[in-house]
Amino acid sequence: MSSRIKIFDTTLRDGEQTPGVNLNIQEKLEIAHQLASLKVDIIEAGFPVASTGDFEAVKAVAQNVKGVTICGLARALEKDIDRAWEAVQYSDGPRIHTFIATSDIHMKYKLKMNPDEVVERAVAMVKHAKKYCDDVEFSAEDAGRSNPQFLYRIFGEVIKAGATVINVPDTVGYTMPLEFGSLIKGIKENVLGIERIDISVHCHNDLGLAVANSLAAIENGATQIECAINGLGERAGNAAVEEIIMSLATRMDYYNIGYNIDTTQISKTSKLVSKLTGIKCQPNKAVVGANAFAHESGIHQHGVLSEKSTYEIMTPESIGLKQNKMVLGKLSGKHAFEDKLKEMGYNLSVDEISKAFGKFKNLADKKKKITDRDIEALVQDKTFEIPQTFVLDSFQINSGNKLISTSVIKIQKGGRIFTEAATGDGPVDAAFNAIGRIIGTGLELNEYELGAVSEGQDALGEVKVRISLDDKFSNGRGISTDIIEASINAYLNAINKMVYEHGEDILNRG
Ligand code: KIV
Ligand code: ZN
Repeated sequence: MSSRIKIFDTTLRDGEQTPGVNLNIQEKLEIAHQLASLKVDIIEAGFPVASTGDFEAVKAVAQNVKGVTICGLARALEKDIDRAWEAVQYSDGPRIHTFIATSDIHMKYKLKMNPDEVVERAVAMVKHAKKYCDDVEFSAEDAGRSNPQFLYRIFGEVIKAGATVINVPDTVGYTMPLEFGSLIKGIKENVLGIERIDISVHCHNDLGLAVANSLAAIENGATQIECAINGLGERAGNAAVEEIIMSLATRMDYYNIGYNIDTTQISKTSKLVSKLTGIKCQPNKAVVGANAFAHESGIHQHGVLSEKSTYEIMTPESIGLKQNKMVLGKLSGKHAFEDKLKEMGYNLSVDEISKAFGKFKNLADKKKKITDRDIEALVQDKTFEIPQTFVLDSFQINSGNKLISTSVIKIQKGGRIFTEAATGDGPVDAAFNAIGRIIGTGLELNEYELGAVSEGQDALGEVKVRISLDDKFSNGRGISTDIIEASINAYLNAINKMVYEHGEDILNRG
C-alpha cells in the first residue's frame, strides 16, 4: 500500500454534471481556491472542449489557483486534448485527463469500435497528450463492467505510451466492494509497468457504494481517489471527499495511510459548495449533514455529556465546525471584527473586510448576539461581487390571514427608482410579483428555501432561490433578520447573476 493517498477532486467537473448545477467562472474560482485550502492534490476543473464557459473556467483556475495540480478532461480525440492543454497550460502543475470506454456494451453501442481500435486510439491519444504535458491520466470508462483481461492489456499499452496515472471508473456504480477491490488487485498484479504510476479509481454512487468501493480500492493498491465534495456528480453522484477522508482519518488504525487534506476545512468547503451549487446536503448526510453531530435521544445526550466518545467517533472540530458561541456585538469595532475573521480562517482583502463590516454593523443594530455562524453567513454573502444591476430601495407589505397580500416595491437601477405594486398568494409571492412587473416577464421561481442561520427569535433568516428564464438557471441567496427582505434580496441576487452572466437583454422587459 502506498503510504499516502492522493485526492483528485472532481467537484468542478463531474460534480458540475449534477442535474441543475451550473457554476459561473467566479463561482468555480471561489470553489477552486477553497479546494486548494482543503489541500486536495488535484483539481479537475472542467471539460474544456464542452463549451467556451467551461474552457474559460478551467483556464482561470489554472491561471489563479497555485500549488495544486489542475486537470482538464478530454475524450480520446485530438481536438479535445488540444483544447484541454490550451486551458491547463497556465497551471504550475498541469494534467491532461483523457478517456475512452472499454466495456463491451460501450464499445459496441456507443463507440461502435472493436477492442483493437479502442486500444489503438487510447495509445495514440496518450502519445498526443504527452507532446504537451508530462502528467497524463488515462481513464477506461465503464471499467467496472469491462473485461479485466482487456483492462490489463489497454492499461499496459497506455503506460508504455507515457500515461502517468491509470484510472478505473465504476462509471455506472455497478460493482460491489469486494468485487471492485479484486479488480484493483488484479490490475496491480497483471499490468506491465503499473508499479511506476498511480492507480486511480472513480466510483459512482448508483447503489450507494461509491465510498465503500473507493475504500476497498485503497486496501487493494489504489493510490488516487477521484471524488467530489458533498458527493456531487452525475445521477446519484460520486464518492464524497469528506466521507473518504474522515474514514481514513477516523480509522487510521485500520488503513494506516497518509493524506494531504486539512480536515478542518471540510465543513467550510461543503457549505460553500452547497451555497454555490444550490444543492443542499440531506440533514443525515455522513460527516457534513446538519445532524451529523446532533444527539437526539436522552440516552445519547446523557452519554455525550459524560464523555463525548461514547457516541462521537470524530469531533465536530476535526472537520472545522465551530461551537456556536457568542462573539461580537453592537459596540465591537473594526479591529475586533478583523481579528474574528482571521481567527475563523478568512483571509479577506481590505475592501471585502470593509463591506463585510458594514453588513455586520447593520446586523448588530437588529440582533443582540452575533454568533460565528452569523459572521460566516455575512462573509459568504458575497452578493457585492456581482454587479448590482437591480437594488432594493424599499418594500412595504400588507398581509394577514383574512387579507389578500399586497406589496409595494421600489427598485433602484442606474440611479432611477422604479415602483410597482402587486398582489400575491402570501407576502413573498406578492413581493416577487411586484419585482416581476419592474424587471420583466418570463422569470420562473423554481425553488424557494427558507432557513435560520442561528438560533433565537432575532436569528438571521437565510433564503435560497433558484429561478429560470427559458433554459437559463440562476441561484440567489439573501440574508436578513426580516425574512421578506431576505426573500427579496435572494430573488434580486439571482436576477443580478443572470444579467451578469447572460446580459441584460435576456430579461424580456415588457
Ligand atoms: O464516470 C466516469 O467514467 C467519468 C470518466 C470521464 C472518468 O466521469
Ligand atoms: Zn464520472
